[in-house]
Amino acid sequence: MAVERTLSIIKPDATKKNITGKINTRFEEAGLRIVAQKRIFLSRREAGIFYEIHKDRPFFGELVEFMVSGPVVVQVLEGKNAVAKNRKIMGATNPKDAASGTIRRDFAASIGENCVHGSDSQENAKNEITFFFSGCEIVG
Ligand code: CMP
Repeated sequence: MAVERTLSIIKPDATKKNITGKINTRFEEAGLRIVAQKRIFLSRREAGIFYEIHKDRPFFGELVEFMVSGPVVVQVLEGKNAVAKNRKIMGATNPKDAASGTIRRDFAASIGENCVHGSDSQENAKNEITFFFSGCEIVG
C-alpha cells in the first residue's frame, strides 16, 4: 500500500462542540499522521470555490453558509492508503448511514452538519491540499 496524503476538514459543528482533539485522536490511532494543520475562518468565496463541484445541487447555498458559520480546521493526513482510510474513519456522508465507531456516527447531527470532510480520490486530494497549503506548510 502506497503512502498517500489526503485533505481533511474539521467542520464548524465540530469546532463548536470542542471535539477537534477527539477527532484527531481517531486519525492518529488509525495510523494517520497530521502533517499540516491550521484553524481558519473560510470566506464565502473560498467555501464556494472549494465546493464548486456541488454548485448546481439544491443544498449548495446551505453548505456554503454552514462552512462559514464558524472556524474550521484544515489538515493534511498522511499514511498508507490515507484517502480510503480517512473515509472509513469518517463514515458515510449521512450520519444515519455511518457505521458505528465512525466520526460521523458518533458525533454528527445531520448530513449537512457532518463534522468532517475528506478527499474522495488521490487526484482530488492533491487539488484540495494545494487549495489550502503551500509546500513548506506540510511537514512530514
Ligand atoms: P462533504 O464530504 O464535505 O462533501 C460535500 C458536503 O455536502 C457533504 O459532506 C455534506 O456535508 C453536504 N451534503 C451532501 N448532501 C447534502 C444534503 N442532501 N443536504 C445538505 N448537505 C449535504
